[in-house]
Amino acid sequence: MIKRYKAVFSSLHTLYRLTHSFIDPKDFVLGVSKLYKNIFKADKVILVCKISNFYNFIKVQLYDKKQMVKKGGISILSKREKDILQDTKEIILDTRLICPLVFIEPFGIVYIKRKTKNDIFDDLEKRWFISISEQVSVYIKIYNLYQEQRKTILNYIKSLTTLLNQYIPTSHLHPKSTAKLIRMLSKELKLSSSEIKSLEYASLLHDAGKLHIPSTLLTKQYPLTDKEYKLIMKHPRKGVELIKELELLKPVIPIILHHHERYDGKGYPSHLKKEEIPLGSRILAVIDAFDAMFFGRPYKKNMSLEEVERELYNQKEKQFDPKIIDCFIKILNMKDTKKYLNSLR
Ligand SMILES: [Fe+2]
Repeated sequence: MIKRYKAVFSSLHTLYRLTHSFIDPKDFVLGVSKLYKNIFKADKVILVCKISNFYNFIKVQLYDKKQMVKKGGISILSKREKDILQDTKEIILDTRLICPLVFIEPFGIVYIKRKTKNDIFDDLEKRWFISISEQVSVYIKIYNLYQEQRKTILNYIKSLTTLLNQYIPTSHLHPKSTAKLIRMLSKELKLSSSEIKSLEYASLLHDAGKLHIPSTLLTKQYPLTDKEYKLIMKHPRKGVELIKELELLKPVIPIILHHHERYDGKGYPSHLKKEEIPLGSRILAVIDAFDAMFFGRPYKKNMSLEEVERELYNQKEKQFDPKIIDCFIKILNMKDTKKYLNSLR
């Protein structure tokens, strides 16, 4: 019995985590469906719900180790599912439990089933099913609010990057290649979807703090004085100030703050070294350096892929994390990547 309670509590915690992560709507509904399957040892689960900002329904079916995910209008619901959605009444049977998901108004249903008649849902499970479905309804609504907030924040990021690109037109990362390299590196390094999202946002915002630095200094072509260099070194902290109040961007803060640290500890602002540096910052440092070398900057001529590779390799364990460099060089040497990157210049 204690084991069953533990399973329910840990599932509720997972539900909380799913709701507050950067996970996309399809994976979110899939994750919730899997929770039902695990908690109730169900042979079949159907979860269908409307996700705001997504306009349509998402329907997940889990059975016999298979999973099916459909997106679409009301037509992806069966007649029975539409009726249940309209009646908003639970259906509690021995081997089948169905509950509408309601928050002010119905927006989905969940259905679980056990195959064999001698394995029926007991009274406790039936009560849990109703109360967990009430929790799920609330969490889906919270997830919806997060989605809306995310949209607002994305617009904020877009405005900020537009402003930044106008202010320092030649020093931003190239969006297409950066997005592709982040995706490929994240796959190699097995990052979670939340870590990938944070890294994508950080790649757009990491130099936003430069808005506080005079543009004449940012485009200066001769060696900087100590005073000028100190001013430039402030940009990670200034960047953090621009986003620190935005709850959703909290995971992005450490990546931005430490994107100029070096693996050997000689970077700034905190002289962190090796794994003390957040993984996202170590990845971004490599992508940032690649962009500057491959595409060039007003004060720096661009380099060929072979030259960039050599330079990155030389900085292994000095400026950069060796593991990340190995993965990055592996990606650069893929035939398709080479062709793609060279086509961008
Ligand atoms: Fe920077």
